[in-house]
Amino acid sequence: GAQYEYLIVETKGEKNNVGLIQLNRPKALNALCAGLMGELGQVLDDLESDPNIGCIVLTGSGKAFAAGADIKEMEKKEFSDVYSSNFLNNWTRLADTRKPVIAAVNGFALGGGCEVAMMCDIIYASEQAQFGQPEILLGTIPGAGGTQRLTAAIGKSKTMELVLTGNKMSAQDAEKAGLVSKVFPRDQLVDEAIKTAEKIAGLSSIIVAMAKEAVSASFETTLREGLHFEKRLFHQTFATKDQKEGMNAFVEKREAKFTDS
Ligand code: CAA
Repeated sequence: GAQYEYLIVETKGEKNNVGLIQLNRPKALNALCAGLMGELGQVLDDLESDPNIGCIVLTGSGKAFAAGADIKEMEKKEFSDVYSSNFLNNWTRLADTRKPVIAAVNGFALGGGCEVAMMCDIIYASEQAQFGQPEILLGTIPGAGGTQRLTAAIGKSKTMELVLTGNKMSAQDAEKAGLVSKVFPRDQLVDEAIKTAEKIAGLSSIIVAMAKEAVSASFETTLREGLHFEKRLFHQTFATKDQKEGMNAFVEKREAKFTDS
């Protein structure tokens, strides 16, 4: 496979149907420099076009998932630079991924690191993980979805507290608040994420994509629009062979054999 400067990319699972991306810039606590985010975009393109991959796991290294956008790279930028280049706009590549992505947050997920985790579909955390939006301490504000996705995940009061103080939130509190779905001991985190990813990758990829699209719509539309969209996709599942197979297998008390069609 391709070699990357800032990432380690592997396939995992008994059927090699899980793509594991590890952020690998531990000396800078996986600060999300332009080079790293460029490579992440390339890997996502590759994994999305690989029909053997049904789910992706994104994790960090050392004591960090990612400690945010690269402050050393940003320090000298002027308004005209960031506005003209639409700085960070390419980060939406991760949020636009059609295959499900599980974030396995092993340590610090701060600023852009927390935002990257929130662009994923499921967040698992290790007991040592810490979440936060400390941009205010640097004289700036979250710029990759923090004010919007965190509010959707944990509500206004908790988001305001994090965004206005820059304080960190523990994995345990993040789970209680609903940001994180499960917390694991550190040495089990990535294996557990891969296990869940394998389960998803073993299902119908076409129905999985529709389910992700429907849930994702709830963050972007009104309830009425979202319910309409869900109903249309639900009806469309009946145009697939996998719906026939899934329901027939249930009735015949056997395991479904999905063909992604
Ligand atoms: N950018 C660039 N370098 C970073 C970095 C970042 N976001 N975070 C850590 N590093 C570097 C440090 O500069 C240090 O490098 P040197 O060894 O060359 O000095 C190295 O990583 C190790 O970091 P520390 O020595 O600070 O490690 P620590 O254990 O004492 O502290 C920490 C850990 C609390 C996470 C601390 O590193 C920290 O506060 N980092 C910055 C967190 C932050 O503010 N993130 C938000 C960035 S802005 C943003 O993300 C905007 C957005 O919305 C997209």
